[in-house]
Amino acid sequence: MRALLALALGLLLLQEAAAQSAWKAECGSCHIAYPPQLLPAPAWRRMMAQLERHFGTDASLEAAAAAEIGAYLERHAGTGKRVAGAGSSQRISETPWFRREHDEVSLTNAANCGACHTLADQGDFRERNLRIPR
Ligand code: HEC
Ligand code: HEC
Repeated sequence: MRALLALALGLLLLQEAAAQSAWKAECGSCHIAYPPQLLPAPAWRRMMAQLERHFGTDASLEAAAAAEIGAYLERHAGTGKRVAGAGSSQRISETPWFRREHDEVSLTNAANCGACHTLADQGDFRERNLRIPR
């Protein structure tokens, strides 16, 4: 019984790692892989359902990859304060949380997180790795 449980857990971890690397590869090729926590599940679901019309570009994926990545995004989707009032907007940079957090900076290209968050491509948004360009 223990061995079976360990096996089941092992498979789940493998599945999670595979989904994460698929997400990083597919959703990090044109821009950083935006953290799943910054949008609520309904927004990710909507985005994944219309990837062929993704912000004016075609980001469509094979059905299996889209399903795997969509499930990953929803598993890690934001809840609570960060996504309150976000509705189903597909832009992180238009959520009320984002606007509050960024009210001190002038954003000409908000989607380019890496312009200020120097380690954004590694999912690191800590203040100490922030450099505001002048
Ligand atoms: C073919 C290129 C391409 C691929 C692949 C791609 N995107 Fe995008 N994505 C874009 C473009 C272009 C924009 C708009 C950028 C802008 O307005 O500056 C965008 C914007 C976004 C935004 C909004 C950023 C914001 O807050 O303003 C999110 C979230 C996003 N993409 C998620 C994803 C996810 C999830 C995937 C993988 C399923 C993905 N993208 C794959 C091109 C792509
Ligand atoms: C023009 C510079 C700039 C851009 C572009 C930018 N940010 Fe920020 N970001 C800031 C500043 C300044 C803060 C506030 C720092 C603080 O008070 O901790 C911040 C705070 C944050 C925080 C909170 C960090 C914490 O530890 O509390 C997150 C998460 C974040 N930004 C994500 C993003 C994402 C995702 C993008 C791209 C969609 C983005 N930012 C684009 C400057 C920027």
